[in-house]
Amino acid sequence: MRAVVNTPNASTPVELRDVPEPRPAGNEALVEVRAFSLNRGELRLFQIRPEGWRPGQDISGVVAQPAADGSGPKAGERVVALTDNAGWAERTAVPAHRMAVLPDNVLLEEAAALPVAGLTALRTLRHGAPLLGKRVLITGAAGGVGHLATQIAARSGARVTAVVGRSERGRHLLGADEIVEGIGKAQGLFALILESAGGSSLAAAISKIEAKGTIVVFGNSSGEPTPFSFRDFAEHPNARIQGFSYFTSEPEDRFALDLALLVLLVADGSLKPHLVEHSWRELAQIGPQLHGRQISGKAVFHVD
Ligand SMILES: NC(=O)c1ccc[n+]([C@@H]2O[C@H](COP(=O)([O-])OP(=O)(O)OC[C@H]3O[C@@H](n4cnc5c(N)ncnc54)[C@H](OP(=O)(O)O)[C@@H]3O)[C@@H](O)[C@H]2O)c1
Repeated sequence: MRAVVNTPNASTPVELRDVPEPRPAGNEALVEVRAFSLNRGELRLFQIRPEGWRPGQDISGVVAQPAADGSGPKAGERVVALTDNAGWAERTAVPAHRMAVLPDNVLLEEAAALPVAGLTALRTLRHGAPLLGKRVLITGAAGGVGHLATQIAARSGARVTAVVGRSERGRHLLGADEIVEGIGKAQGLFALILESAGGSSLAAAISKIEAKGTIVVFGNSSGEPTPFSFRDFAEHPNARIQGFSYFTSEPEDRFALDLALLVLLVADGSLKPHLVEHSWRELAQIGPQLHGRQISGKAVFHVD
């Protein structure tokens, strides 16, 4: 079968190559992959993982063979899934508890946008729960995580300030009460701040957090460090900086439940992933666009 393979020393970071068929373990289903999405964090993995490594976490497709132990979705069901790697292939093996079944009105392409970005959006926001009536600030709001977090926060009753780099980056954003160009333009204090740009953005976040509020630090897209000291918290007493990893933030057995919740939000119309769609043969060309802040929402690829 064909699969995306890491080629860090070649002219493109990844290539489509022939690889052996997957051999599912007893708790794994075999999924025919129809679509997948690319995450910013995976661009870095292309550089640091060895030649021949198989990337791919976010997939959607159809169950070709259910898990031998009887758990999880049945043959023929359409699913969204989170794999550790090797998901960007014609077929892949997925643990049954890392999948959710798609209702008829959820497209495979929409579903492929959900695993890493959707779980990150959902789980970072839980640090501010309950969100009803609270002010929430989201940096990187035009990106994969940010645009989903903006919608989920709004759905949860928060008043959302979305931070974008340039005004046109906010064109596709849904759910924001206000969109500001740069965190410096956000007025007032916030109960919850989702911070992924790092550097001066994280420093500014500290100046905008309410007393006892929480800044969830989940990325460093700028690559810049942030010097700060205790005194920066003088006007923001007992505020918290919370580190975050979507993968370990909640127990392993919650993946299926949270994927199912995200799918439900898409099905009922309250979560609308913004997609930029391409063939998987174009993956190597789209990576630099994601890195260059030219993709709004999620880059999704058809396994065609
Ligand atoms: N901790 C975790 O578990 C976890 C999980 C998923 C993602 N992440 C991290 O979270 C961040 C967001 O992920 P994503 O998938 O949403 O990425 P993305 O789709 O590329 O979005 C990132 C957004 O950040 C904004 N940004 C602000 N300053 C930036 C800078 N200096 N360089 C690049 N982008 C900048 C960009 O929007 P503008 O152009 O509008 O400014 C961009 O849309 C990444 O750093 C990623 O590695 C962490």
